[in-house]
Amino acid sequence: MTNINYKRRQFIQYAAASTLAATIPELSFARTQGSNMTPNPSFKADVEIALNAQTADVSILPGPLTHVFKYTGKLLKGPSSTLKELPGYLGPILNFERGQKVRIYFSNQLPEPCITHWHGMHVPQPMDGHPMYAIHRDEQYIYEFEVANPAGTNWYHSHTHELTAPQVYQGLAGLITVSDEIERKLGLPSGEFDVPLIIQDRSFSSNNQLRYILGMHQRMRGFHGDVILVNGQKDYSIPVKTRAYRLRILNGSNARIYKLGWSDGTPVTAIATDGGLLEKPQNLPYVMLAPAERIELWIDFSGREPGSDVTLQSLVFGDSSHMESGMRGGMRRGMGGGGMGMMGAAFGQDEAITIAKFQITEQIGDSPKLPETLVSMPRFTLQDVTHSDRIVPIAIGMRHMSFQLNGRTFDMYDYMETEKIPVNTIQRIKIFHDNLGMGGGMRRGGRGGGMGMMMSIPHPIHLHGQQFQILSRTQIHQDSGYETVKHGFINSGWKDTVLVMPGEEIEIIKPFNDFKGFFLYHCHNLEHEDMGMMRNFYVS
Ligand code: C2O
Ligand code: CU
Repeated sequence: MTNINYKRRQFIQYAAASTLAATIPELSFARTQGSNMTPNPSFKADVEIALNAQTADVSILPGPLTHVFKYTGKLLKGPSSTLKELPGYLGPILNFERGQKVRIYFSNQLPEPCITHWHGMHVPQPMDGHPMYAIHRDEQYIYEFEVANPAGTNWYHSHTHELTAPQVYQGLAGLITVSDEIERKLGLPSGEFDVPLIIQDRSFSSNNQLRYILGMHQRMRGFHGDVILVNGQKDYSIPVKTRAYRLRILNGSNARIYKLGWSDGTPVTAIATDGGLLEKPQNLPYVMLAPAERIELWIDFSGREPGSDVTLQSLVFGDSSHMESGMRGGMRRGMGGGGMGMMGAAFGQDEAITIAKFQITEQIGDSPKLPETLVSMPRFTLQDVTHSDRIVPIAIGMRHMSFQLNGRTFDMYDYMETEKIPVNTIQRIKIFHDNLGMGGGMRRGGRGGGMGMMMSIPHPIHLHGQQFQILSRTQIHQDSGYETVKHGFINSGWKDTVLVMPGEEIEIIKPFNDFKGFFLYHCHNLEHEDMGMMRNFYVS
């Protein structure tokens, strides 16, 4: 694609955002749809992949096959390790190398529109899978981008307007790994010792079909299933040797948040967050993992007995009845609005859940050692922010039983003055709960379902484009569940998704380099996203 084409497209998008869209409707959507139909001959791809979204019937549970949506891939050009199939309904793992030029022929074979987003990857806007680019059945969208990210774990999933939640739920997701020279020098566990764990919760009917029922309760809280799948399989269990492993964990669930810890109390050792490796490994008692977040763990099974096992669990957390009464804030009392059937557990989990079982099967003598330092990571400070007097707001709010950002819901080409970002700048962004002008007392007291619920639901906020850093987390007002999660956050790594707890205010610093156009920010609780808890930044 030439620059001129790119500019023209930008103009069309800009025009579409103005009144032109109303008078010449085909200018707005039709033009952007179906763009990128032909490969750009001057883009010399190192890797070419044909990726289809299609329906399939796969084996997930014993018995009848499950009807799913599935990404299938075929490597057309590049190293054979680029594509790794997983059994089940998830798409192939895409293994990229930093600096590689990648072309993906995405073809939609589904009976509904679809578009794919490369979550965490720093790519130009036409390659980012904005819903404006959705294609219909039998159409093709060609992605071309250079892998600019450092080594780390990202993922891809559908990003279709108001259909992201059901499409991802039915299977449209897959993992992306990026590797680079710096990472290779560290000698981290690789090959069979580098293990992906994609965690999702699902619900099945008695004949093994995926069930996605949304009453008001599920809509507000987001879908929670009663079966945990790891890499698309139930009761996930993996044989391991007595040595160190690297676990790449993605929370690919629509809405469920996990509190990951080892069953025997071994501390969790994190080596990477969403955007790549940490400066140095970090030990925590447990780690919180919200939808779309990734964490990479180091776990050394050395010294364990063959025949024994250890499980990765999701531990009890939240503002449930397990909390001592003294710790319950006024919020729960105030949530008397009732009738929503969700008062006891606006978020959290009442009992420990097994995520994956590691069975020690073989004793071996040798294991890599955990490096003391990983990668260098310059910390952003307020001095780095381009406009020191500007704070870009992301206000989480609710009106008419629908979540909003900055007082608005998603509109394809809409952006406000506060959502205009000059390209090649570094911005300070504040994510907070908009109390709609109600005072603290009112807030605690709640008001029917709405306010109480709004204040007590955590939101994983995701920003497209480059990875950001967390500047600060502040509990503005005490939430009853916070004590149960507060040691599980890593604030030192590159992030593209951050879990904003009830009562919490988070400041981040994010670069907006290289690419102009619309870049989304939204809640990655996919039910919230589909109800419009999403907005555009217009980078220009
Ligand atoms: Cu994981 Cu806007 O996406
Ligand atoms: Cu949300």
